[in-house]
Amino acid sequence: MMTTFPLEPIEKASQDELQALQLRRLQATLAHAYRNSPMYRAKFDEAGVHPSDCRTLADLSKFPFTSKLDLRDHYPFGSFAVPREQCVRVHASSGTTGKPTVVGYTRNDIETWSAVMARSIRASGARPGDMVHVSYGYGLFTGGLGAHYGAEKLGLTVVPFGGGQTERQVQLIHDFRPDIIMVTPSYMLAIADEFERQGLDPRESSLRLGIFGAEPWTNDMRRAIEQRMGMDAVDIYGLSEVMGPGVANECIETKDGPTIWEDHFYPEIIDPETGAVLPDGELGELVFTSLTKEALPIIRYRTRDLTRLLPGTARTMRRMEKITGRSDDMMIVRGVNVFPTQIEELICKRAELAPHYQCILTREGPMDSLTIAIEARQGLSHEGDEARGAAERLAHEIKTYIGTTAVIELRPEGGVERSVGKAKRVVDKRR
Ligand code: DLL
Repeated sequence: MMTTFPLEPIEKASQDELQALQLRRLQATLAHAYRNSPMYRAKFDEAGVHPSDCRTLADLSKFPFTSKLDLRDHYPFGSFAVPREQCVRVHASSGTTGKPTVVGYTRNDIETWSAVMARSIRASGARPGDMVHVSYGYGLFTGGLGAHYGAEKLGLTVVPFGGGQTERQVQLIHDFRPDIIMVTPSYMLAIADEFERQGLDPRESSLRLGIFGAEPWTNDMRRAIEQRMGMDAVDIYGLSEVMGPGVANECIETKDGPTIWEDHFYPEIIDPETGAVLPDGELGELVFTSLTKEALPIIRYRTRDLTRLLPGTARTMRRMEKITGRSDDMMIVRGVNVFPTQIEELICKRAELAPHYQCILTREGPMDSLTIAIEARQGLSHEGDEARGAAERLAHEIKTYIGTTAVIELRPEGGVERSVGKAKRVVDKRR
């Protein structure tokens, strides 16, 4: 077990202290949103609630949810609770269609974000003086700059590479010898392939720790990456609307799901159908309320991410179970609900297969069908018996454990699209 580095007092506070702080901050946030954001004022008025109705943390459930649609309706800056002039930065998350969602930050917000990111990077096992190679995209995406500000605050040497140019990424990692990499897990695998293509053993690289997030990835994928790279792999979670990366982060000493930084982000789990709040431990949709944000306070934001809240282990604050999927990613194949992560778990168990994959949905007549595009492990022919046998066993396991029929399409090396950021796991060709 790693020795723990001095924690912030709030990371060690009792439940009572934490909840008292949360309530104070929640009341202030609701008042600020109501007073300064026409969007929230209209929503609270319509629901017949007033910030003074919040006397306990449980009272939060009286307030209306916020969705991506609310923010889109007030595009670009209409949901802000401060004049645009007081924002020192904006970011935006690109939706698949239509307008992006725009988020804003005051100087204090950037300070808060940097602080929770520094805390996240420290919980991951980084220490001042380490060097970090950042391969999350810089720009409107929150990944690059979020990681960057947090790492600088913690006292790391930052290599602000961003996404893409995989060949050069490897060259710089080889030459600069960073201790840590921050990148999406799917792009880590593409970088690992490039190491091997250049004749370098990824296990021999200087990297000892990867801080991976921005997309769902399974514990089986964690094991695959840790083994292939000879590093610790830790999960970082966040979303633009709530702040960016650093809403929750795994602690390296336990690796048991991200600890939610509850002094800044208050979590709830709801039934996605009825909106009812579910008790800790039950699976449902994750909802967040910001407790300290100024420019864009976010009240009961529906993330569409599915998980459950778990008791704290390495910290007092609660954890969330590693995210198994977004409701948007759920495929319904002939009546069976399937998440890409369920397929991923089975792929990672087959050493003959590479962990690059895509789920392709097509429709012939009234019937949906699911094809899994996949590659054989590096150096193994995709047409050979070994790969073909593994593909057959994979199809069999998908049928047995998930309950759906899938066609496995083995492609030559590089035949499955690589992303330089978030992987596109589902390709829906039905429409
Ligand atoms: O992806 C922020 C981020 C950057 C997080 C870098 C971690 C590292 P968005 O582009 O707004 O923000 O996408 C947010 O990505 O609702 C989840 O569905 C998914 N997501 C983010 N982190 C994880 C994770 C950034 N660790 C959406 N596990 C979220 C699973 C994740 N899904």
